[in-house]
Amino acid sequence: MIESSKVQKILYGGDYNPEQWPEEIWEEDMRLFKLAHIDVVTLNVFSWAALQPDENTYDFSRLDKIMNMVRENGLKVCMATSTAAHPAWMARKHPDILRVEHNGMKRKFGSRHNSCPNSPTYRKYSVALAEKLAERYKDYDNIVAWHISNEYGGECYCENCEKAFRSWLKEKYGTIDELNRVWNMSFWGHTLYDFDDVVAPNMLSEEFEWDGIRTNFQGISLDYSRFNSDSMLECFKLEYEAVKKYTPDIPVTTNLMGSYKMLDYQKWARSMDFISWDNYPAYNAYPAQVAMQHDLMRGIKGGKPFALMEQTPSVSNWHIYCKLKRPGVMRLWSYQAVAHGADTVMFFQVRRSIGACEKYHGAVIDHVGNENTRVFREITALGEELDRIGNETLGSRTDAKVAIVFDWDNWWAAEYSAGPSRLIDYCKEVGTYHRALSEKNISVDFVSVEDDLSSYRLVIAPLLYMCKDGFDEKIREYVRNGGRFLTTFFSGYVEDHDLVVTGGYPGRLKDILGIWVEESDALPEGEANSFTYKGKNYPAAVLCDLLHLQGAEGLSSYESDFYEGMPVLTCNRFGEGKAYYVATHSSDEFYKHFLGEICEELDIHPVAEVPEDVEATVRENEKGSFLFLLNHGEKAAEIILDREGIDLISGRSVQAGDSITLEKTDVAIIKRNK
Ligand code: GLA
Ligand code: ZN
Repeated sequence: MIESSKVQKILYGGDYNPEQWPEEIWEEDMRLFKLAHIDVVTLNVFSWAALQPDENTYDFSRLDKIMNMVRENGLKVCMATSTAAHPAWMARKHPDILRVEHNGMKRKFGSRHNSCPNSPTYRKYSVALAEKLAERYKDYDNIVAWHISNEYGGECYCENCEKAFRSWLKEKYGTIDELNRVWNMSFWGHTLYDFDDVVAPNMLSEEFEWDGIRTNFQGISLDYSRFNSDSMLECFKLEYEAVKKYTPDIPVTTNLMGSYKMLDYQKWARSMDFISWDNYPAYNAYPAQVAMQHDLMRGIKGGKPFALMEQTPSVSNWHIYCKLKRPGVMRLWSYQAVAHGADTVMFFQVRRSIGACEKYHGAVIDHVGNENTRVFREITALGEELDRIGNETLGSRTDAKVAIVFDWDNWWAAEYSAGPSRLIDYCKEVGTYHRALSEKNISVDFVSVEDDLSSYRLVIAPLLYMCKDGFDEKIREYVRNGGRFLTTFFSGYVEDHDLVVTGGYPGRLKDILGIWVEESDALPEGEANSFTYKGKNYPAAVLCDLLHLQGAEGLSSYESDFYEGMPVLTCNRFGEGKAYYVATHSSDEFYKHFLGEICEELDIHPVAEVPEDVEATVRENEKGSFLFLLNHGEKAAEIILDREGIDLISGRSVQAGDSITLEKTDVAIIKRNK
């Protein structure tokens, strides 16, 4: 990730907001950072108001002092541009920077992540600030990365955006006739005469609230989602260019949020030098759920290591229940991030603020203000370990033979869909497949529909409602050449504009799968059909496709209702490969069983044989192969090693056949020869 000669270990630190504190306290912070083995601080995330007190005045005096102090103290800096919250004067003087919400409400000054991405004022001043920062601090050789804005997100429906949407559409579709075609505007007499007839599809037009947000015109809403993501990306790119003018060699990122629906991160990743993201799992998240987020963030940049930019050391202030991370859990989850591709371990926040909503969010330095806390002790212990691990794991990659397809357009389209069921949840469906593999300790990559699939033996595309132009051909080629492909119910319905592909579902995938789905039965919550696969009985819920074999072989069938006996699981031989179809949503046990069997047949094995509740992953670089063992269980676990190596944390050598004990929350990183 932050590939540079300046970085020789897993960077350790986090968001530091000295602007919220009197200067007397900064010296004390430096002392505490040293104690905790902190070597990087993310600075200047929310300082716009201080840096630019009015239209024409810039004041960097305080930031200069901070920059000098952290440099003198040997700290590296992840330098933010402060543009995620605009100053009050800007809102007062230029109301065009204020967002309009989905319900049409124009916001006033307040909150953060609050600027209209298409406001000329916002763009002008944000870019100017980024450029000034780069110019001023370009010679600070301790800056390891630029951190543009912060957690881009949300959406805007103001007049700037509506205008920009029209231009975006004109650019994409050329003529109004083409726009009418792709949005199917002859429906309900919606035909537009001119691009000026286009309005933003919020609650004032096509969208309405009914069991969540729904839309009358999926095509319009889908394009607005694409447009909104592109608009924010454009803001990022403008700042990117601004800082690159003065510091072409400093890598640039912005902190992402995992499976965040509103921004197409695969598209964003192409414009980012490296990926960084903020990991805030709920207190009851299961390990594979967190692993999926890491895998996704690794996947959007072709498997490159990423930065863990934020996590809480102890507690998040915004969860429903702000449960403390139990002793050992902060360390365990930090290593879990590394196990899945992180090259940094960073926190929000390093000193806990005293006012506003994050005063009860965990921090390295708590309100008590000293090092005598459980959390500080745990942080210090982890800091010592990371010093010891040094640069060993940096740059290492995951070698996966299974890929899961993830696609933001598909996510938007599937969930905008009016029907067939409100229970259709793209991330959840993807998550069930990922979980089955992850809990078997089989490495998984997330890929986009544009990625090359040839290195994978199995490609899974859950709920591929939208099969985009060309993707079917890619799959056809892949399977023909011996690949295994698996997809599910509610797949292949539409093309890129959410227009149905006629001729029978699953549309463009029909020949590859050798089936025709005639109807789909949406079962309300609590209702289920069932099927038996190799002697085991499993539920069929959410959606049950009623399908006909057209060349495929049925592997199991429904056991009740009027479609009893119809196939629910199929396999089609196609060229040298096979294509599987899972026509319903089933239980975790089923996915483990079925995917386990496919992997077995393909010679894809767990990276290690470990007890339940122990997670195992492998990363590799030119120095070796690193086996990460993480005990997420409540009890100690015994693991028999199959190869010799050295535990990077304890420094102990281990032999093949040795057994190691991992206490609850404990971790080992065994370095082996490649
Ligand atoms: C986000 C933000 C931080 C902070 C944390 C608190 O990740 O980027 O500024 O608000 O949440 O959880
Ligand atoms: Zn706007």
